[in-house]
Amino acid sequence: MSKCSVVLGCFYGDEGKGRTTDYLAQFADVSVRATGGNNAGHTIVVNGVKFAMRLIPSGILSGKTISVIGNGVVLNPAVLLGEIEMLKSHGIEVDKFLKISDKAHVIFPYHSNLDVMLENRRANKIGTTKNGIGPAYCDKYERCGIRMGDMYKANFEAVLEHQIKTKNEILAAAGEPTVDVEETIKTYKEYAAKLEPYVCDTVNLLHKYLKEDKFVVVEGAQATLLDIDFGSYPYVTSSNPTIGGILTGTGLAARDIGDVYGAIKAYSSRVGEGPYVTELFDAVGDRIRDLGHEYGTVTGRPRRCGWLDLVALKYAIDVNGVNYINLNHLDTIGKFDTFKACVAYDVNGVETQDFTTDEDFLTSAKPVYKEFKGDFGDISGCKTYEELPAQAREYIEFIEEYTGTMIKLIGTGADRENMIVR
Ligand code: IMO
Ligand code: MG
Repeated sequence: MSKCSVVLGCFYGDEGKGRTTDYLAQFADVSVRATGGNNAGHTIVVNGVKFAMRLIPSGILSGKTISVIGNGVVLNPAVLLGEIEMLKSHGIEVDKFLKISDKAHVIFPYHSNLDVMLENRRANKIGTTKNGIGPAYCDKYERCGIRMGDMYKANFEAVLEHQIKTKNEILAAAGEPTVDVEETIKTYKEYAAKLEPYVCDTVNLLHKYLKEDKFVVVEGAQATLLDIDFGSYPYVTSSNPTIGGILTGTGLAARDIGDVYGAIKAYSSRVGEGPYVTELFDAVGDRIRDLGHEYGTVTGRPRRCGWLDLVALKYAIDVNGVNYINLNHLDTIGKFDTFKACVAYDVNGVETQDFTTDEDFLTSAKPVYKEFKGDFGDISGCKTYEELPAQAREYIEFIEEYTGTMIKLIGTGADRENMIVR
């Protein structure tokens, strides 16, 4: 039986998980999304063509990998159908490769309306993507969610009607826009019909693939510090993007997990609200944003930027059992003459390398930096580790020593080709 590889984010998202998956998909038979929904935006550039993937695992871009949307995903059918069309327009045989879990929960318009309503009323804003992610997971745990497989049952219309009416009572009482019952039922029946060929029991399917010795890659969404349990609560998403969520979001068992790749950038970014120890508020932060094109894939929101935080990285490695790091944007950091990475926190005059997501701790922590030499020149053509300039290798080896974890994949540019594998 084969083991699957997992790719997950170590920081606040947007670390390049999609391109790690895209790389591994060359060897993979199956790729899987486990958590989150269309709050994710994974950018992959193939031969100069930019793909912004939100729901379908990036593995589908390999043109040969079965792509599974797992049970842990909350799924907006309109977004998914748009993504299917987009991929088909590029000649990708979606019908041959896409599988959707019958247990994935469906996002309805009332979820998005509730997301907007709750965010507007929150004293401390989270800065959600307003895609209805939180309210859809609330329904899942409240046990009133509607799953993909439920859309094909005889009572679907009645169940949906009841849900819309219940949610409309809340929305109307708050003076927020309600959802049209007839229109929504009609639209979702159309979505259901279009998606039916892809819906199946993906749990048994994944285990069948593993027994056939197929190589499975799980593409995490969001990231460790956005995790509902292990992230900077309450400034997090509503799922577990960490390793436990990979299991519950797919039906894979702990013994099925092989390598765990933790994706990071050579600097850091965060979008939305919440503490961020290494955030830069000056022109240097603006320069990182410009050089790294740090604007939301989906919303276009400018991302907050700063140096890499190795204290947080060590925590992410521990929580997830990361055994390989995928370091992206090495080319971007190399455009600075000198740059920094955070090696400890100063908390009220006491230096520590221990990390906790307590809000008071994170807001009082001041980064202690180590400076590195930059000016790497054009490294996009480097095919081997040895071709990288000495100062780039120095940075990489420092991170490895600090974290005790090997950096196996190194992103040296935006295109699929710009990746060094060690
Ligand atoms: P990928 O997979 C970066 C952030 C939002 C917000 C918080 C909660 O591309 O790395 P939500 O809509 O999930 O309720 O928003 O989480 N967030 C992300 N930030 N990358 C993502 O996904 C994100 N998904 C959610 O900005 O702060
Ligand atoms: Mg993103």
